[in-house]
Amino acid sequence: MIVYRTKTDLTGHLLTLQNEGKTIGLVPTMGALHQGHMSLVEKARTENNFVVVTIFVNPTQFNDQSDLDHYPRTLDQDLELLRQLEADLVFVPSVKEMYPEEDMQIFDLGGLDKVMEGKHRQGHFNGVAQIVSKLFLLVHPHRAYFGQKDFQQLVIIRRLVEMMELDLTIVPCPIVREKDGLAMSSRNTMLNKEERKLAPFIYETLVKARGKMETLNPSQVKEWVILQFKKQSDLYLEYFEIVEDKGLMSIDEWDKEMNKVACLAVLLGEVRLIDNLNFD
Ligand code: PAF
Repeated sequence: MIVYRTKTDLTGHLLTLQNEGKTIGLVPTMGALHQGHMSLVEKARTENNFVVVTIFVNPTQFNDQSDLDHYPRTLDQDLELLRQLEADLVFVPSVKEMYPEEDMQIFDLGGLDKVMEGKHRQGHFNGVAQIVSKLFLLVHPHRAYFGQKDFQQLVIIRRLVEMMELDLTIVPCPIVREKDGLAMSSRNTMLNKEERKLAPFIYETLVKARGKMETLNPSQVKEWVILQFKKQSDLYLEYFEIVEDKGLMSIDEWDKEMNKVACLAVLLGEVRLIDNLNFD
């Protein structure tokens, strides 16, 4: 497995592969890898000749300096895991390498970045678009792999690909869950024992909410979810929305023709967790 830290090394290596007509799969990550990431790499392995994984904690997508400072970093462990998974190349750039100067680029994400996560994390998706567009232009992948846990990010990245007119397939990969239902996330390692015990409540509530679809309308389901979290003083619900899966508009009736996803963000102590569930 090759590990590169500079764009010059990366693009030089990939150019040879591209000339040989090899297909390239890209798995962008911020490290602290878990089974969710592993499933992305495994899928990329089966669908491409060559797999590039990037590890970069992108500062421009953090709207909170303390969140950035505390984001888990486990590079040695990550590289070992990727070796076992037989990733071909890992790109681990520094901040200076990716942002030699301040990136002033503003992306028009058509309002997809203004709801849910976007409302609570100002500028987050612009930062995601900055780094992901850079990675797409550096790697020129045939396919790029993203987890469905970051459902809004996935929708936004699809829009980015359209805007950039890239010949690139975005491959969504299912959420990987712990046995007790908690969605795998790099942030789970930041939970203390007590918080970790409480965390499955998030997925349990999503599943129960889906079960209410027969008797309640979408806004009543939302009220029900808000109430469940109010009863749990250790978990603070930032938002719960049931949206259609393209424009991310909140729905007010159950339309069978529409793909519906329930999304939420929860604060458990200092740790912010997101999750979602298909409501079809
Ligand atoms: O989902 C993530 O880990 C990040 O947002 C991504 C896509 C790697 C961009 O930094």
